[in-house]
Amino acid sequence: MTGDLVGRTAIVTGGAQGIGEGAARALHAEGAAVVIADVRTAEGNNLAATLGERARFVELDVRDAKAWSHVVAEAQSAYGRVDVLVNSAGIAPVAPFAEYREEAFRQVLDVNVMGLFHGITAVAPEMRRVGGGSIINIGSIGGFRAFPLMTGYVTSKWAVRGFTNAAALELGADGIRVNAIHPGQINTPMTDGADFDTAHVALKRVGQPADIAGAVLFLASDSSRFITGEDLVVDGGDLAGTANWTSVPDQNGRSGD
Ligand SMILES: NC(=O)c1ccc[n+]([C@@H]2O[C@H](COP(=O)([O-])OP(=O)(O)OC[C@H]3O[C@@H](n4cnc5c(N)ncnc54)[C@H](O)[C@@H]3O)[C@@H](O)[C@H]2O)c1
Repeated sequence: MTGDLVGRTAIVTGGAQGIGEGAARALHAEGAAVVIADVRTAEGNNLAATLGERARFVELDVRDAKAWSHVVAEAQSAYGRVDVLVNSAGIAPVAPFAEYREEAFRQVLDVNVMGLFHGITAVAPEMRRVGGGSIINIGSIGGFRAFPLMTGYVTSKWAVRGFTNAAALELGADGIRVNAIHPGQINTPMTDGADFDTAHVALKRVGQPADIAGAVLFLASDSSRFITGEDLVVDGGDLAGTANWTSVPDQNGRSGD
């Protein structure tokens, strides 16, 4: 533990499981007080109890602006301040474009994009009050490259990049940094049963939530104090291996055909 985050308070949405849980555990281990905010009350309460001191669960549907006010008020009254917000709550419905219902499309945008809007709107005044903060939006490599059968998800994750950039520009003057982490294929309940494809991935493996947590700690801490509006891809070299070569050049750059 570096102690970098001692005295800081972090809110982690989607913190009850998966990448959010990994982030909550890591932030807590580095000394931060952690507010786990999620719709999964049983898992969230269990995690808070496991972490013990400096951890609590507050029920939150990220689409609900009122519930957001409650989360920030709870963090404020329990720990006196809010320094970090990790927006990890997300959904990833799979459906062919032709069968995508309007309601389902709106729902993924509501959770994955409007959730960020409500979150930043809720925490920014509190961060401003304490002289700054760090907001970390969990996007996806789907925000750089489309996945089949996930139009809503891919649209939402491209939006995360635009939103992150725009919010960083606006909030920078208040010392509030806004960055995005874009995970690759990560083993979580969301991807349970997924057919992972690591053949093109540089590191030849699927990631774990702990692989994302290091990036969260970096962006949450003062080590990243001059970084804002940034897209940090944490994918083991998944995007790096995306190029679909039909023939492999030799060492002189000549085509191997
Ligand atoms: N797992 C991957 O391979 C992967 C890859 C790239 C990006 N991501 C992104 O990382 C984030 C976390 O994904 P994960 O794999 O941990 O998923 P997960 O399903 O394991 O966890 C997501 C959490 O978000 C919560 N959640 C969902 N809707 C919510 C809502 N309306 N309000 C509050 N909480 C809500 C869930 O209850 C759950 O605890 C998501 O934004 C996801 O898109 C995941």
